[in-house]
Amino acid sequence: MSEQSGSRLDPWIDSYAQRAQGLTASAIRALFAVASRPEVVSLAGGMPYVNALDANQFADITARVIREQGNTALQYGSGQGDQKLREQILEITSLVGVHSHPDDIVVTAGSQMGLDLVTKIFCDPGDTVLVESPSYVGALGVFRSYQCNVVHVDMDENGLNPEALRTALAEHKNVKFIYTIPSFHNPAGLTQNQQRREEILLIAKEFGVPILEDDPYGLLGFEGEPPQAIRALDDQSVIYLGSFSKTIASGLRLGWVIAPHGVREKIVLAAEAATLCPSNFVQLTISRYLAEQPWQQQIKVFQELYRERRDALLDSMQALMPAGTTWTIPEGGFYSWVTLPPGLDATSMLPRAVAELVAYVPGTGFYADGQGSQNLRLSYCYPDPDRIREGVRRLAVVLEAEIEVLNTFGPAHPAATPSFFSPRSDTR
Ligand SMILES: Cc1ncc(COP(=O)(O)O)c(C=O)c1O
Repeated sequence: MSEQSGSRLDPWIDSYAQRAQGLTASAIRALFAVASRPEVVSLAGGMPYVNALDANQFADITARVIREQGNTALQYGSGQGDQKLREQILEITSLVGVHSHPDDIVVTAGSQMGLDLVTKIFCDPGDTVLVESPSYVGALGVFRSYQCNVVHVDMDENGLNPEALRTALAEHKNVKFIYTIPSFHNPAGLTQNQQRREEILLIAKEFGVPILEDDPYGLLGFEGEPPQAIRALDDQSVIYLGSFSKTIASGLRLGWVIAPHGVREKIVLAAEAATLCPSNFVQLTISRYLAEQPWQQQIKVFQELYRERRDALLDSMQALMPAGTTWTIPEGGFYSWVTLPPGLDATSMLPRAVAELVAYVPGTGFYADGQGSQNLRLSYCYPDPDRIREGVRRLAVVLEAEIEVLNTFGPAHPAATPSFFSPRSDTR
């Protein structure tokens, strides 16, 4: 019996499958319990501002779904998802250039489930997945739970770097897919331009590796038309993940996968094994919402709201952040990625920040390999602009104090992450 198994905390510690070893709570989780107190300005979580929705409208829709379609809403449904909803999803994806057939779509409990299903059907333990550097923490959790070998590929101001991608594909065997968030990246706040998308697709095809395109923020751009998805360029090499979480409501837990025929069949079988079918009640609610409500108008409301908050964040960082701090300028989505002055460590700084009543996510959470200590992610989606400004003011106080300590006593940890994204970052 191992020392750990004698622990009263968990008598089953020796019984878990190897893949469960990747399921560990991060050390910063406890701090987030504190960070959710109302006096703390949280620039940490990526929670959509659902308060901007009309709750009465949803109350009315859900009541009518139960009253008028109760026999279906309260029953099991198709493993692939409701046919009418899949048709409506295509109206949404047409805005990012994805024109497909309802048969190519699988409805899931959020795009998080799509990530899980795709990884489940492609990856054996030890298989490699290529991800951006940094990448979405929830995806890294999925890849870890399937014991994937996660390899980070550098980004530049246009997102995933094609040369770095080519090198990684040449160096690594058994690459099962390239996971990318091309629009309004979480956490980097960057967007691939059209040329970059075409280049990445060409390289992926050259090496015969599919792209897993994660696009929950694609319709939340602040300027002009939404970027066209990589999936719009190729329907055989790209598996596309979409979500209602940011454009309608994350609490409804609904998203979708669009995949080539064979992959789609496997995903349906894997989804049925996991959950039998998505919730009929939620699908019918969203379907009615899309049919009856001006959803494009609501997306515009979200865009305006998030743009104002993004501006509040960037303006106050420009005014207050100490010299040597850089950050990305998001053109949509929820996040800006901050690089601290050399010598500062975002993880060890977090307790001080929480004591100053401001929270962020340290950069190391967005890497599978321990990088990111000099970075942090700031989310502007949830607090109102005044709170954001106050949060940045508090954060700047923390940074100034850390710099003073650094200048007095020298670095506690060597800087682990080179500063990057500086070409498009504001610096002071
Ligand atoms: C890049 C990315 N992918 C997937 C998800 C999961 O979204 P969903 O609510 O659709 O499961 C998120 C949530 O924040 C995300 O940022």
